[in-house]
Amino acid sequence: MRLAVFASGRGSNFQSLLNAKQAGNLPKAEFVLLVSDNPQARALEIARQNGIAARHFVFRGYADRAAYERAILEGLREREVEGICLAGYMRLLGETLLEAYRNRILNIHPALLPSFPGTHGQRDALEYGVKVSGCTVHFVDAGVDTGPIIAQRAVEVRDDDTEETLAARILEQEHQAYPEAVDLFTRGRLRIEGRRVRALD
Ligand code: GRF
Repeated sequence: MRLAVFASGRGSNFQSLLNAKQAGNLPKAEFVLLVSDNPQARALEIARQNGIAARHFVFRGYADRAAYERAILEGLREREVEGICLAGYMRLLGETLLEAYRNRILNIHPALLPSFPGTHGQRDALEYGVKVSGCTVHFVDAGVDTGPIIAQRAVEVRDDDTEETLAARILEQEHQAYPEAVDLFTRGRLRIEGRRVRALD
């Protein structure tokens, strides 16, 4: 399955997907495009270093979200992209992309959804005082981190944690959970049944 990864920043999850591919753990995944909304994203650099096409689309250059997403969609079609992995992509997707790739877009979120959706999952969990947090891989729908859940990993929240130490502990789990979920997805092993996702393996 030909995949595009969307990333706005440093791209460690993108790198972990590439590592998994290189290790032979993603036999059916082919990473053919990196899309960013941020021309400074380190993820773009990672793509170029790995010989993967990299494109950035700056939002303010377009009339509205639909026009923005039509431009991205054209880029995806040029590369015959069949599925999308969001990996630290800081923009909500609109109808244009959601309809073109219905049930074919995955995201990784740094909290145990449905707790702590949005852009500060680690900080929000820490401030709330939970003792366990983690990460979630889910299908993307029109809501903020609301789509059907594919996989979750839990991590302990320690008394002396800061946002940074908790984020680092969660990130380790992200780097394992995302490639595993993408493997199931690209091998056609995931079935969405209402809100529930069944893995056929
Ligand atoms: C990760 O914590 C991911 O869960 C969240 O954004 C962060 C991206 O980190 N959606 P990176 O760019 O993959 O290093």
